Amino acid sequence: MTHEVVLIPGDGIGPEITGAMRRVVEAAGVSVSWRVVEAGAGVIEQYGTPLPEHVLEAVREVGVAIKGPVTTPVGTGFRSVNVALRRAFDLYACVRPCVSMPGDGSRYEGVDLTVIRENTEDLYAGIEFDAGTPGADALRELVAAEGAGAIREDAAISVKPISRAGSERIVRYAFEYARRQGRKKVTAVHKANIMKATDGLFLRVAREVAAGYPDIAFEDKIVDATCMGLVMHPEDFDVLVLPNLYGDIVSDLTAGLVGGLGMAPGANIGTDCAIFEPTHGSAPDIAGKDLANPTAEFLSAAMLLDHLGEREAADRIRCAVRATLAAGEVVTGDVKRALTGSAEGAAGTQAYADAVIAAL
Ligand code: NAI
Repeated sequence: MTHEVVLIPGDGIGPEITGAMRRVVEAAGVSVSWRVVEAGAGVIEQYGTPLPEHVLEAVREVGVAIKGPVTTPVGTGFRSVNVALRRAFDLYACVRPCVSMPGDGSRYEGVDLTVIRENTEDLYAGIEFDAGTPGADALRELVAAEGAGAIREDAAISVKPISRAGSERIVRYAFEYARRQGRKKVTAVHKANIMKATDGLFLRVAREVAAGYPDIAFEDKIVDATCMGLVMHPEDFDVLVLPNLYGDIVSDLTAGLVGGLGMAPGANIGTDCAIFEPTHGSAPDIAGKDLANPTAEFLSAAMLLDHLGEREAADRIRCAVRATLAAGEVVTGDVKRALTGSAEGAAGTQAYADAVIAAL
């Protein structure tokens, strides 16, 4: 059977790591028909937008896509291709597993946790007002009239919406994920002691949903204490569920527990659509130099294959990555440096992909 998958190579290191990923998936024996579509700064001149309609149409039609990273232009009108895609398809659950592998170059062993980040609301909703604009002024006046506090006149304002419905579906997703994956515990992460309305609602809903899953342990933790707990005792954590912004930050932290951004895969899941992509960005500092670690892209592809029902091929890719890292002979510069203090003698992106393919 041939699976149709939309491939958005992205920019920066995107084309290098997605090219390597295609070779690995093909070597794993899965037949994929790639529908390649381009998004990002490189297509603005041609289409007038970094996210052309035909890209959205392809994802809508096929229902499953894998991406390389896309650079977010700073200070232009367009917020982010990544955020826009998540919004267009209501990809509400961002799933980021972090699992230690021998030879991954991290300071930790035995980390095995998954961060589940709400993807559609919170400060990431992008409802923002520059200082001195009519919107900021109106909000400031409203806040004063409600007796809710004083906002300085020269303040820019971001709005943090957290809904009951949004919280309920992400927490439910986390518990269903825990059940499917044979996990033992879900930790809801929040700052409800300070943000009593927004994070307070998230926490209340999390407790309500947890009551329906007596087979899975539940705890809640404040986000700052969670960060300390993660770096001191990552083995205490299993599945974490977080509002959008905390999830963004904490999932980079957890990537650091398993060797860094080059190791951390991810999936954005909605009801009708799923888009797989690594946690990292386009790494402009190393783009086009055959230096990037494509492991996160390979492991994202393994998550994609799980989603397509190709479990055996997905496991083979994970095993081949593990074996290549454990052997330690052909690894990229980020891993080499973490292991030895110097990137000297490291393999390039494509040579590392060849080693993974040989291990397959
Ligand atoms: P970044 O993740 O691209 O890079 C941070 C650091 O990690 C850099 O030193 C980079 O060289 C290193 N790094 C990242 N991925 C690596 C890999 N696979 N192998 C080896 N080293 C790697 O984060 P940064 O620099 O903040 O963002 C660059 C651009 O990417 C921005 O425009 C940002 O908005 C965008 N971005 C896109 C994402 C996406 O497409 N989903 C996600 C995150 C950021």
